[in-house]
Amino acid sequence: MNKPRILVARCVFPETIAHLSQHFEVESNQDDQDWNGAELIERLRDKDGAFTTGSVRIDAAVLAACPRLKICANMAVGYNNFDLDAMTARGVLGTNTPDVLTDTTADFGFALLMATARRICESEHYLRAGKWTKWRYDMFAGTDVHGSTLGILGMGRIGQGIARRGALGFGMKVVYHNRSRLNAATEADCKAHYVAKEELFRTADHLVLVLPYSAASHHVVGSAEIALMKPTATLVNIARGGIVDENALVQALRDGRIAAAGLDVFEGEPKVNPGLLTLSNVVLTPHIASSSVPTRKAMARLAADNLIEFFSKGRGLTPLNPQVIKA
Ligand code: DGY
Repeated sequence: MNKPRILVARCVFPETIAHLSQHFEVESNQDDQDWNGAELIERLRDKDGAFTTGSVRIDAAVLAACPRLKICANMAVGYNNFDLDAMTARGVLGTNTPDVLTDTTADFGFALLMATARRICESEHYLRAGKWTKWRYDMFAGTDVHGSTLGILGMGRIGQGIARRGALGFGMKVVYHNRSRLNAATEADCKAHYVAKEELFRTADHLVLVLPYSAASHHVVGSAEIALMKPTATLVNIARGGIVDENALVQALRDGRIAAAGLDVFEGEPKVNPGLLTLSNVVLTPHIASSSVPTRKAMARLAADNLIEFFSKGRGLTPLNPQVIKA
């Protein structure tokens, strides 16, 4: 019997390709070429399944041109690169990689918060540039993390992980806002207090964004929200770039409306708003929050195993639209 045909649309671990090759006829992109929509379609039109990452857009046009496609397995927990409604309408299963990256991503959110609040990158650049000639009482004086108020917008698994780190490790008061309030047991476990969105912006000393990106969360943080924040506050975004109006943020950072920002994600990534690059009170990282070797391997494994599960058992391990699976 012919093996199902799979496209691995971005470069991944060689062991992932080897694993998939035991089950599928695999076409891969180990040169990591940046395919445009037409180039993606050219390779995908004769495939039964796709292994994707967050930069591979699967939309109605791609689906219409690739009628054989039955599953797209994303190596990411976020799936805003999928038009899930269009996939569902065509009976194409989408899967993502939840859980395996929760703690690594929460660790990174906290690291970015610390680096931003304590001006670690800015001071390191100063030292490397040979500018450190003497100690000064106010040198790179930042804001405290311990004992401060940690705000979290988006309280899913990663948000809860950040809350626990803040409350248990740093004695922070944790406030959060989410589409739906957590149950009392989870709130108690995270030591987190639910507040209205306005209050979150007003009270947080450090505000971390961890909500999923969709049309509804586009520019949820703009000039009006930033205007509510404390002038000493830190804003950290490890979710998706489009959640923050970057031009408004650049202006606010320039004007000292808030103290600093730590950004791992950007609206037009991998392009970065040039205004951000001119500022010293930002820490900028290239979308690496889940990037530890064990976690990236676990994500790749789970995406591959979703494909294997689907073609061997007709279901996904972590399906996003399980309604497309026939009972
Ligand atoms: C995720 O898993 O969504 C990360 O942002 C990597 O894309």
